[in-house]
Amino acid sequence: MRVVTFSNQKGGVAKTTSTYCFAAVLKSLGHRVLVIDMDPQMNVTLISKVPEDDLPRIYQVMVGEAEFPEAIRELEQFDIVPGSILMSSADKTFPEKNRNRLLKLALEKISDRYDYVVIDTPPSMGLLTVNAFAATNDLIIPAKAEILALSGIKQIYDLIREIKKKTNPDICIRGILFTQFTSRTNISSTMMEMATSMSEIIHAPIFETKIRSTVKVQEAQAYRESLFDMFPSSTAAEDYKAFVKEYLEVISNG
Ligand SMILES: Nc1ncnc2c1ncn2[C@@H]1O[C@H](COP(=O)(O)OP(=O)(O)OP(=O)(O)O)[C@@H](O)[C@H]1O
Ligand SMILES: [Mg+2]
Repeated sequence: MRVVTFSNQKGGVAKTTSTYCFAAVLKSLGHRVLVIDMDPQMNVTLISKVPEDDLPRIYQVMVGEAEFPEAIRELEQFDIVPGSILMSSADKTFPEKNRNRLLKLALEKISDRYDYVVIDTPPSMGLLTVNAFAATNDLIIPAKAEILALSGIKQIYDLIREIKKKTNPDICIRGILFTQFTSRTNISSTMMEMATSMSEIIHAPIFETKIRSTVKVQEAQAYRESLFDMFPSSTAAEDYKAFVKEYLEVISNG
């Protein structure tokens, strides 16, 4: 089982969109895929059309009120453990013992069941993201090619260094994924130069694949439909398929 996390404390950089699309493509290639929604905003849960029910969600797993299998919903596009608004009280309600490793410990019990676990995280570097990082093999940092989105990347790097030392020596920053990309603007080329120097600072590459900006992404999400069903030949659908291919090549090289 390999755990892949999309994280950036900057909001609106396509963490959720990338989690959804990456997981959907992996599943379509025949892998066993579980999505975990660690964000109290529950966006990946919402766009995945998880049915309303009273079954346990990620919060109950984290506080030890439920086991992972009870919280899994098997959807067409992938399996998912839905998010919960209760996650916003994590600082107060998560137990003290193994506080930073609750997710990692819970996942260990289902490690035979999935090939990939894909985690969506909130736009912050708090306890929820720390739990995700403690369980992560591959961190992918989605970023918009604009100055503010890039400024947070150094902070992620500092947190990763700490996590690597204290809780999870296995975590690897696989790279920066440019999203909502429009290559024709001047800003983008200037930002690409900045991003290249940033990539040197964090010792991680920029993925060659860039996810182009298209309104089809928002449309599919508004209908809570899969981009790959609704707009299979859209640029973003093509780009996410290319990105998964690139990711699989990267990890096969170790
Ligand atoms: N390739 C794209 N083209 C156009 N719009 C996109 C693309 N990717 C994402 N978006 C849109 O950008 C917005 C932010 O995306 P998303 O919710 O995935 O970001 P996020 O990083 O998860 O945000 P948050 O920090 O709030 O969790 C959404 O409205 C989404 O539909
Ligand atoms: Mg999100």
